Amino acid sequence: MSLYGLIGYPLTHSFSKKYFTGKFEKERIDHAKYELFEIKDIQDFPSIIKNNPALKGLNVTIPHKEAVMQFLDELDEPVKKIKAVNVIKVMNGKLKGYNSDYHGFKTSLEKFLADGKTSEVYKHADETRKVFETLRVFEISALVLGTGGAAKAVKAVLEDLKINYKTVSRNKNQGDLTYDELKGQLKNFPLIINTSPVGMYPKTDACPDLPYEEITNSHYLFDLVYNPEETLFMKKGEEKGARTKNGLEMLHLQAEKAWAIWNA
Ligand SMILES: NC(=O)c1ccc[n+]([C@@H]2O[C@H](COP(=O)([O-])OP(=O)(O)OC[C@H]3O[C@@H](n4cnc5c(N)ncnc54)[C@H](OP(=O)(O)O)[C@@H]3O)[C@@H](O)[C@H]2O)c1
Repeated sequence: MSLYGLIGYPLTHSFSKKYFTGKFEKERIDHAKYELFEIKDIQDFPSIIKNNPALKGLNVTIPHKEAVMQFLDELDEPVKKIKAVNVIKVMNGKLKGYNSDYHGFKTSLEKFLADGKTSEVYKHADETRKVFETLRVFEISALVLGTGGAAKAVKAVLEDLKINYKTVSRNKNQGDLTYDELKGQLKNFPLIINTSPVGMYPKTDACPDLPYEEITNSHYLFDLVYNPEETLFMKKGEEKGARTKNGLEMLHLQAEKAWAIWNA
């Protein structure tokens, strides 16, 4: 039997447990089990590893994504930049940390930008590279709304794709811009990525505080929120002709990336 699981606190609404339990049933993976390890104090982490010799891999969620790094033997390259781990692979007692949000967001963003282009040049998904070349040629920048854990993975992806970005925070010293400095600016940022929880269920009538009248049909709005499937941020963008995408594909991609890492 191979054991997988999630560490975090609290763990009342776990997407991962539902996803992997469903996956094991659907794909008839009968030698695998997914368990929740609810720990408040990260100092309890080593005993989870010690007491569960069947463990092959773990997901990590709030509040341990950073603190767990002290117990790992090796880090995947993007983790060194992001400084947060959400996947651990256990191999002969050695622990390696990964960030599957990085991989999920990168693939989902690439697909979004490629799919959005309808001209001959961008008809095929493998033309993504050309989209990025275009973005670079015109020095088009992205706006990243929010400066939390998810923003760190998003920023690492943008850096690796060489897409310039500015961060937006409610607090003056935390990001490059505050929301009240955005007036007249949106034309300079055709890609806007919401990494804040604003608009997430149950507060679905909220949206990031943007000058939406400046959104045009040249804008791409990516919301990391996946519940509801269409957020108010996306709705307001669509009303102005923008292309939009929610975080559902990213969520599934990051889970599948974790599975691929554990079984590589
Ligand atoms: N689709 C996926 O696979 C995926 C993966 C990871 C996360 N997510 C989603 O991404 C969102 C953020 O996750 P996270 O872990 O980064 O959360 P977080 O650390 O709690 O919040 C992210 C940032 O959002 C800003 N923020 C928080 N509350 C706000 C409010 N009321 N108004 C305006 N800004 C606010 C804050 O930045 P400032 O203080 O600088 O304003 C905060 O640092 C969540 O909805 C999560 O479900 C989705």
